[in-house]
Amino acid sequence: MKFDTKVVHAAITPDQTTGSILPPIYETATFVLEEVGKDKGFDYTRASNPTRQVLEENLAAIEGADYGICFASGMSAVDSVMKILSSGDHVVCSDDVYGGVSRHFNRILTRFGLSFTYVDTSQPETVRQAIRPETKMLWVETPTNPLIKVTDIDAMVEIAKEAGLLLGVDSTFATPVYLRPIERGADIVVHSTTKYLAGHNQIIGGAVLTSRKDIYDEMKFVQKSVGAVPSPFDCWLTLLGLKTLSLRMERCSQSAQKIAEYLEAHPKVSRISYPGLPSHPQHDIAKRQMDGFSGMMSFELTGGLEMGRNLMNGMKLCALAESLGAVETMITHPATMTHADVPADERNARGLTDGLVRLSVGIEDVEDLIADLEQSLAAA
Ligand SMILES: Cc1ncc(COP(=O)(O)O)c(C=O)c1O
Repeated sequence: MKFDTKVVHAAITPDQTTGSILPPIYETATFVLEEVGKDKGFDYTRASNPTRQVLEENLAAIEGADYGICFASGMSAVDSVMKILSSGDHVVCSDDVYGGVSRHFNRILTRFGLSFTYVDTSQPETVRQAIRPETKMLWVETPTNPLIKVTDIDAMVEIAKEAGLLLGVDSTFATPVYLRPIERGADIVVHSTTKYLAGHNQIIGGAVLTSRKDIYDEMKFVQKSVGAVPSPFDCWLTLLGLKTLSLRMERCSQSAQKIAEYLEAHPKVSRISYPGLPSHPQHDIAKRQMDGFSGMMSFELTGGLEMGRNLMNGMKLCALAESLGAVETMITHPATMTHADVPADERNARGLTDGLVRLSVGIEDVEDLIADLEQSLAAA
């Protein structure tokens, strides 16, 4: 099956009882056993659920992985992966990660004896230099939130192999439509399914994908033990959203390319980061490892924070909102929204300035989106 066919059909067959083309929503906590020791494959929804299983198998198929494990949020998926580690272990992590990820690592997981070193993973040599004897994992976000930096997955696979590390990739911004790190040798992929995969701002969810049976077994154990599972209804809503993933991504990235080119040429824009622009520092890497550049960009205006704030407040069609990856175009101020918990000096050190604006391009008509930016930039 080709990719676009898998998105619609993988793991989804008409319901055996009724012929329903969509999988039923098994909204139940428990399953009745036929006799002691004999169930029909399910016993309790925290451990497994038929609707969730369809979603897990569909996501695994489109990621090119053998196994999928779904969680109640992207954050609980990231947290569950970290539970593979033990006290004393060290992680080398991309310096520009979603603010909720670094908050979780620095303020919760360090209390349990894990330690983290943040480096610019778009520079493989800095990754090599950060590895210590106790390093167990390399955690990469690509493209990053919010600076849209791109990391060379092939280089990370090589480093992880050399040093005997697990390689985990948060591929939320790329989606499996454009990047499939497991096919390139990564051990683990994480998605916030809240974003492009579900695609309609309708749920909060997360997924871990892997082709390693040992990691799958560990993730299933964490899922069952901790219980951070998505509801069957949320799984169903995600499955519904996934049906149009390829079409949505095609539109998002086509429009994002046009908007990025428009912004790059605008006299009030001082800096823009979009992997589809030849000016992006990792444009060639993105071109090699991705099948498209997705819909996320960030930029700064010549008038810094004040002009950026005026722009965001002046948008009429684009929503000023915290999330990304949905059919609606959303504009975000990372310094006060998604990355507010990253200390200011850390934000500045990594180039996440107070004036940075993040744009998640949706599926509206691109001319309307550019007109909205035009009117707000003119007034900013
Ligand atoms: C790259 C990335 N990873 C993980 C998360 C966390 O996902 P969730 O909000 O579904 O918990 C986010 C949320 O914005 C994100 O942008």
